[in-house]
Amino acid sequence: MTVSAPVFLVKDGALSWPEIAPMREKIYPPEKLINTPMHGIEWAHAERRVLLYVDNAIRAVAGIYERQILRDGQPIHVAGIGGVMTEPEFQGKGYGKQVMLYLMELLRAENRCAFGLLFCEDHNVAFYSKLGWTMFEGEMLVEQHGKTGPFAFRNVMLLPLIEPTTSDGKLDLCGLPW
Ligand SMILES: CC(C)(COP(=O)(O)OP(=O)(O)OC[C@H]1O[C@@H](n2cnc3c(N)ncnc32)[C@H](O)[C@@H]1OP(=O)(O)O)[C@@H](O)C(=O)NCCC(=O)NCCS
Repeated sequence: MTVSAPVFLVKDGALSWPEIAPMREKIYPPEKLINTPMHGIEWAHAERRVLLYVDNAIRAVAGIYERQILRDGQPIHVAGIGGVMTEPEFQGKGYGKQVMLYLMELLRAENRCAFGLLFCEDHNVAFYSKLGWTMFEGEMLVEQHGKTGPFAFRNVMLLPLIEPTTSDGKLDLCGLPW
């Protein structure tokens, strides 16, 4: 059977949530999250999502969260990336990479964010490294339950866009993580 070429759509975050919620539940079943460090973490909501469809069915998705954050105390506009997922039965076929490449090209064309910033687990570092993301080893502050504090729960990775990135320093997301 021939596989159709992927179609990419950029959609509003809130409007596209119902479309991707079933995939998220499969990947992160709520009953399993209760016993993980992810339980109780407050996350921001994506403003936009890049969705990859094949034959009108979603195969992969990635969320965009633009925000003015503080880098070493100075305001800077960045592109947060989160909620990167490929339908479990279609993982390992290049869809995650394609959705990320499309998103990265979009951010470069829009030319308004200094760099990209994402959080990821150890086992996904290699996936993002292959796409040009590098580790940030400095201090990361985020808001959780109304208070600002350190967030060492996941690796932080950065992608240069308008500006180069550094691996150290202090980043304050001035809000919830994504
Ligand atoms: C992480 C994820 C999005 C990758 O998507 P995918 O469609 O399976 O990945 P792809 O098939 O596009 O892989 C692209 C490349 O990355 C590699 N890769 C994929 N997942 C990897 C991983 N976890 N670790 C290392 N390399 C990985 C592939 O081998 C491939 O390499 P190549 O370009 O040299 O052939 C997918 O596994 C997923 O949805 N996982 C569960 C949710 C999750 O962890 N999301 C990330 C949150 S930070």
